[in-house]
Amino acid sequence: MEDQAQELKELMGTAGSSQKMDSAAPIAANAHKTRIIAITSGKGGVGKTNMAVNMAIAYAQQGKKVILIDGDLGMANVNVLLNVVPQYNLMQVINHQKTMQEIILDTEVGIKFIAGANGFSKIANLSVDELDYFAKQFIQLGNADIIIIDTGAGIANNVLQFVAAADEVYVVTTPEPTAITDAYGMIKIITTELVDREINIKLLVNRVHSAEEGKKISDRIITIVGQFLNYKVDYIGFVYDDPVVSASVIRQKPFMIVNPTSKPAQCIKHIVGRIEKTELTSSEGVSSFLRKFLRKK
Ligand SMILES: Nc1ncnc2c1ncn2[C@@H]1O[C@H](COP(=O)(O)OP(=O)(O)OP(=O)(O)O)[C@@H](O)[C@H]1O
Ligand SMILES: [Mg+2]
Repeated sequence: MEDQAQELKELMGTAGSSQKMDSAAPIAANAHKTRIIAITSGKGGVGKTNMAVNMAIAYAQQGKKVILIDGDLGMANVNVLLNVVPQYNLMQVINHQKTMQEIILDTEVGIKFIAGANGFSKIANLSVDELDYFAKQFIQLGNADIIIIDTGAGIANNVLQFVAAADEVYVVTTPEPTAITDAYGMIKIITTELVDREINIKLLVNRVHSAEEGKKISDRIITIVGQFLNYKVDYIGFVYDDPVVSASVIRQKPFMIVNPTSKPAQCIKHIVGRIEKTELTSSEGVSSFLRKFLRKK
């Protein structure tokens, strides 16, 4: 894996002169900076998929090109919320059966959607040619302004791989004590497992009843993370607990579309506005993501 990744790195590092990477798409894509966000949590069911889907839609409503990736095919969460049934997924690109263009799904809500794959570990066994194919396909995603990845909960390998590669990682929690301790546990794992990486972690507190509640919870986590892990995390915002969220899940129509003036929709817009105000520091877009994604832990 390390050898292959190293070779790929070199291929990518010489994209301008190498024959292998000299196709038009990667070069065009390299000129564009794509923000890549992974949304994760310690505890399951805290609202990651709802945050990911509705944040993606909020971005698209600002005229941005957005790609939402379901990081875990096993649960197919995004499919359910958007009421779409993708025919293909990333596995077919990894297996060299489809191009990226063939698996990207246009949705009614103005975002593009890529269904994830379970077998990312397969990437470790690809030949350099196969990796090269995957890289070329992946780099085409660089035409997007933002890529949001909805990861599973907890510390599955897939999750850490996405977390390690993204520009920013949003850890979602709710006010429940178990969600808070699991959010802390997740941050601890990220910061200890990926100790050599610069991971930009932000907290999103979902299902609060007041702005103060969100701030109090994030303050508590930020303090403990600072004290015990010597790591700085930021607070990106909160989303109100509101019946429109579960109603929209049942109708399979995101609240950003059907309840755009609801409290959760306002919160999501606010969060997206805050994200947009923060400069991307070290991002090199999709090629940087890919390099980090393929790097051995
Ligand atoms: N702000 C909210 N207000 C009310 N209910 C909410 C809110 N956020 C999430 N929920 C409820 O929690 C459920 C789970 O949300 P979601 O599927 O987004 O969580 P998840 O973290 O992606 O779960 P998993 O870990 O299984 O992927 C939703 O179906 C909804 O009923
Ligand atoms: Mg989910």
